[in-house]
Amino acid sequence: MRVLIEPDEAAVARTAANAVAPLVRHATCNLGVATGSSPVPTYRELARRCASGELNFSGVHVFLLDEYAGLPQQHPQSYFSTIRRDFTTAVGIPDDHIHGPDGYAENVFEEAAQYDRHLTEVGGIDVQILGIGRNGHIGFNEPMSSLASRTHVAVLTNQTRQDNSRFFAAIDDVPRRAITQGLATISEARSIVLIATGPAKSSALAAAIEGPLSARCPASVLQLHPNVTIIADEEAAQDL
Ligand code: GLP
Repeated sequence: MRVLIEPDEAAVARTAANAVAPLVRHATCNLGVATGSSPVPTYRELARRCASGELNFSGVHVFLLDEYAGLPQQHPQSYFSTIRRDFTTAVGIPDDHIHGPDGYAENVFEEAAQYDRHLTEVGGIDVQILGIGRNGHIGFNEPMSSLASRTHVAVLTNQTRQDNSRFFAAIDDVPRRAITQGLATISEARSIVLIATGPAKSSALAAAIEGPLSARCPASVLQLHPNVTIIADEEAAQDL
């Protein structure tokens, strides 16, 4: 693991964009994207470099890390809509280059398996951007998820639903399940960039980097990956 500590969120965004940019410059790139607040400044930085002509996203396909179950794609809080709003529209990636599981599928279990197969069929993810939950989750792999898990339907913890309720009118509107790439699926990405900012992430980040490899902290599975860069601000890194 490479761990880079930056003074603030803006510096984290520049460093993360620097890590992703060389892969975006390839003729084709499968870019894995996380939603949540942590990667948003990085997406803005990538959009700025696109607007200045420094980067071109025409060969990029994006692949969602996870998706709420029970929300149609066009729901404003679906992760499909979120990534359009936060990233792809700004860099000119068309909707048919956005791949993700359909959380509104009749059979979400089959949909999860199908998305897992799709990731393999397209040749895998070149670079996966990740955030981290306060409890150490990545994607929606909550604590005690199998480290060997493939894309599956996950039940969200109360803490995660509470944390994500800021995007919904009421906590009861937050879906209870999601389709998420599994920890083994995520680990197949050729490179991974994990972004952590703010003091709320400090204990999860310390457990992920310095704690034992354990399903109690799902992000600790990244210790086994040969090409992970963790980019944190000083607040998120304070327990290291
Ligand atoms: C959600 C997403 C994760 C994300 C996490 C942290 O639960 N499924 O992919 O990393 O939230 O989000 P934030 O960056 O907003 O703290």
